[in-house]
Amino acid sequence: MIYKAMLSTGIEGLDSIIGGGIPEGHTVVVYGSYGTGKTTFGLHFIYEGLKNNEKSVFISLDEDEDSILESAKSFGMDLEPFNDKLEIIRLDVVMVKESLEKVTNELLNVFKRMNVRRIVIDSLSILESLFDEKERWLAISSLRDIIKQSGATAILTSESDKSGESTKYGIMEYMSDGAINLKIIRKHPLEEPVLALEVVKMRRIRHSRKPVPYMITDRGITVMEGAEIF
Ligand SMILES: Nc1ncnc2c1ncn2[C@@H]1O[C@H](COP(=O)(O)OP(=O)(O)O)[C@@H](O)[C@H]1O
Ligand SMILES: [Mg+2]
Repeated sequence: MIYKAMLSTGIEGLDSIIGGGIPEGHTVVVYGSYGTGKTTFGLHFIYEGLKNNEKSVFISLDEDEDSILESAKSFGMDLEPFNDKLEIIRLDVVMVKESLEKVTNELLNVFKRMNVRRIVIDSLSILESLFDEKERWLAISSLRDIIKQSGATAILTSESDKSGESTKYGIMEYMSDGAINLKIIRKHPLEEPVLALEVVKMRRIRHSRKPVPYMITDRGITVMEGAEIF
């Protein structure tokens, strides 16, 4: 039963794998090691929304606004014409640590004022690593709660653990409605590795868990649906 709108990810070849897109209001964690395309994934998601006139917020804990705009542009996504629909927020991890409640209240105010439809938080790794276990749960669940309150659909990114199979602390996939793993698959140490995307979890959606190869080019991410990895 289709009971909700599905939001396109804006990534070629991906929507069909996850049953048409991301269900409205869901929070999906995209995780992988550095260079697997997590930031690029978030940019596609935001750009797709902007093209559809949806208000969007990109919260960055890694890169400053100029770097984000430049990265997007290098993939053919010019965000500048969408100034009035996009808010890029540079979040200082130290501030979050000092005053979680203040930061989440401020963010929720922005979400409500804008009537935001799409949110990206890139990446939660620094925040996760600076907190102890209890604080980490609290911080991530607080962020999840304000996203839920806003009604927006969200992509949260995080680093994977050493095995590459889970997020570093195993919390994000537990707390999210969906989880997508961006993997680096090495067949042979001297050969170029293959990038592969695995849908680990997508609440209430029937999906395959078979890893699907993807590429990053000057047009961003393209998922090669139906292709075999080797
Ligand atoms: N024009 C391009 N063509 C091919 N690959 C690219 C291009 N631009 C960036 N990349 C690849 O994408 C990676 C950056 O992706 P990014 O989304 O920043 O990854 P992450 O956020 O997971 O670290 C780079 O490390 C590089 O391998
Ligand atoms: Mg990144």
